[in-house]
Amino acid sequence: MYKLALVGFGVVGQGFCELLSSKKNFLKKNFNLDYRVVAISDSQKGSVFSREGIDLSKALEWVKGGRSLDEFPGDENGWDALTTIERSGADILFEATWTDIRTGEPGLSHIRKALEKGMHVVTTNKGPIALFGNQLQRDAEEKGLFLRFEGTVMSGTPLLNLIRECLAGCQIQEIRGIVNGTTNFILTQMFEGKSYAEALKTAQELGYAEAVPDADVLGWDALAKACILANTVFGAQIKPDPDKLPCQGIDKVSLKDIEQAKSEGMVIKLIARVFIENGEVRVKVSPERIPLSDPLSGIKGAKNALTIKTDALDEITITGYGAGKTPTGFAMLVDFLDIHKKLSRRGNE
Ligand SMILES: NC(=O)c1ccc[n+]([C@@H]2O[C@H](COP(=O)([O-])OP(=O)(O)OC[C@H]3O[C@@H](n4cnc5c(N)ncnc54)[C@H](OP(=O)(O)O)[C@@H]3O)[C@@H](O)[C@H]2O)c1
Repeated sequence: MYKLALVGFGVVGQGFCELLSSKKNFLKKNFNLDYRVVAISDSQKGSVFSREGIDLSKALEWVKGGRSLDEFPGDENGWDALTTIERSGADILFEATWTDIRTGEPGLSHIRKALEKGMHVVTTNKGPIALFGNQLQRDAEEKGLFLRFEGTVMSGTPLLNLIRECLAGCQIQEIRGIVNGTTNFILTQMFEGKSYAEALKTAQELGYAEAVPDADVLGWDALAKACILANTVFGAQIKPDPDKLPCQGIDKVSLKDIEQAKSEGMVIKLIARVFIENGEVRVKVSPERIPLSDPLSGIKGAKNALTIKTDALDEITITGYGAGKTPTGFAMLVDFLDIHKKLSRRGNE
């Protein structure tokens, strides 16, 4: 029975707990996977530690009702994230706090502390992985621990696991595609005739875009994901610095550009690319004109898609959700299952 600790109880943390709760019997029956969540810690929603395990349905209801976990029944309350990691005695940390692409904090400290304490880590937080993913992976491996982060690129759509497991024998030559749902939604709206300002407003009204949409529309989020791919798939060491890397967003794409592309049988998409040039791994984010024959051209709304170019299988394109409560919660679940399978195999060796 795994003891789990969760740091960050927002959209993703709650999505993960909903899946854990609804699939408890399924996971036990099909994978012999059993768990109890011993700690949840969130900066505003409070925190609870329970040796016997937290009733997840109750905790979800509690928080949805606007109550703080600091008042939730348990053995301890009020622990901050680092205290939770330090004292909960959990086997696996699930880290779902805010992304800060410049420092990786607070997730970086949470992951480092968990590895130091001998915990496996699952995260959806792009900051620490884009900045220090390789180092953290080495730290984990040196201690015989697993660090998994499927949700950082394309949420639960199986991209990193697909590459690591199913394409393990292939040489990956290039990865390119749409990794930011907000900008793809805006470009899709523009393709249907709306101006950039109108499309952005609709995206904000529907909750796809933040009030300050810079991270999405200027291409920074896509750049972070491209760096995660460059570093983890191609073994590069590229920091997601938009001032130093070729990174152009969609804020300067006009309706005229879209109409022009349309008249030539093309669409404009914000493309993140990881490729090799003169023996060096490079990343690039920019709006590109894509012919209608390219599978990426048909990706509409907030969906994501990536085309992986390989030596043995040529091109494979995978498409699906790139964000959302359940898809990203699912990314955590699938990483949990992966760790469980690996540990079970290790136990049987
Ligand atoms: N949402 C998605 O679809 C999606 C997809 C892929 C990846 N991700 C990544 O997954 C992570 C979580 O996303 P989200 O959508 O769940 O964000 P969210 O709703 O803002 O939740 C993040 C939670 O972390 C809490 N938090 C922040 N700093 C903390 C700290 N030091 N200690 C404890 N709790 C802390 C926040 O607390 P308060 O707000 O209560 O203060 C908030 O509840 C982010 O890094 C995001 O980039 C999200």
